[in-house]
Amino acid sequence: MKITITKTANPKAKPTSELGFGKIFTDHMFIMDWTDGEGWHDARIVPFENLSIHPASTVLHYGSEIFEGLKAYRRKDGKVQLFRPIENIRRMNNSAERLCLPEIPEEDAMEALLTFVKCEEDWTPSAEGTSLYLRPFMFGNDETLGVHSVKHATFIIIASPVGSYYKEGINPVRIMIESDDVRAVRGGTGYAKCGGNYAASNRAGKKAEDKGYSQVLWLDGVERKYIEEVGAMNVMFKINGEVVTPALTGSILPGITRKSCIEILKKEGYKVSERLLSVEELSNAMADGTLEEAWGCGTAAVVSPIGELCYKDKVYIVNGGKIGEVTQHLYDTLTGIQWGKIEDTFGWTKNLD
Ligand code: PLP
Ligand code: COI
Repeated sequence: MKITITKTANPKAKPTSELGFGKIFTDHMFIMDWTDGEGWHDARIVPFENLSIHPASTVLHYGSEIFEGLKAYRRKDGKVQLFRPIENIRRMNNSAERLCLPEIPEEDAMEALLTFVKCEEDWTPSAEGTSLYLRPFMFGNDETLGVHSVKHATFIIIASPVGSYYKEGINPVRIMIESDDVRAVRGGTGYAKCGGNYAASNRAGKKAEDKGYSQVLWLDGVERKYIEEVGAMNVMFKINGEVVTPALTGSILPGITRKSCIEILKKEGYKVSERLLSVEELSNAMADGTLEEAWGCGTAAVVSPIGELCYKDKVYIVNGGKIGEVTQHLYDTLTGIQWGKIEDTFGWTKNLD
């Protein structure tokens, strides 16, 4: 694939204060366009700038949008590495298929990602727990109000140096189990990473935040009975010695961090079950003390202990509100591999060159 590179004439100063999440953007972005019949074309890296799009553009009216999230990590030796980027590329193509957006050949998507990260490599921060968050996204861009699968699309990658997603950092977060709104149903777009899933979750998210909770834990969209996932992460519980995580039934995001946690735990001999977990089973485990640990996992959230769960105004404290042993172990192992502090025996990391 031919990628033209136009460097900015005005590089920005690198941030020196607290990074937060997704507030600061690097100097460049990757863009390429797709036209039905012609395919992907005009791959380019250009200075970071506002987009100009037609007011009738499909994405603005019908939410024709998908995105990904992955990180570049600066290792101790100064080199920069990515974590399982091929998984993000494959998931993006699955999301594209669901939304009738064009897929990108895996090798082109990888080349785009690696070329872009190389260009922005200097923006990868080195302070403990920081990384360069990469946000590939794609949207339908037809200039018409008709509802159809699109004939024009745009794919962009932007990057943002980030610290922790939650203000709590690695300290336990408080999560509210939502019993009214639902995020997704089977047959819908729950397994795809599309903007609409997040737009529809904002009302419950706001309700939770107003009560002092970080995010919502969703129940299934049909019976409101089974645990699904949290707003920006998958969820895992240690109940009576067994690690339980909701099965991928089509309505939750197949998280790459989830998959990695399962692989780490299984390799180490833990009992891990991907299965249906009812909120009743969870409430009983919280009430009788067999719920030993709870945590969320995601690229932005990393491994995030859950210290408190609220369901229908009943509050449960998990593990005395402290991070549990397995949660801490997973955090250490995963971040150890991601930042190159421990050997990657899984072959998950990808160097830039
Ligand atoms: N579930 C949702 C709804 C998410 O937004 C995310 C974040 O990407 C995840 C789960 C975790 O996925 P991953 O580990 O691939 O980042
Ligand atoms: C990620 O973890 O990469 C995500 O996409 C979560 C995001 C919604 C902040």
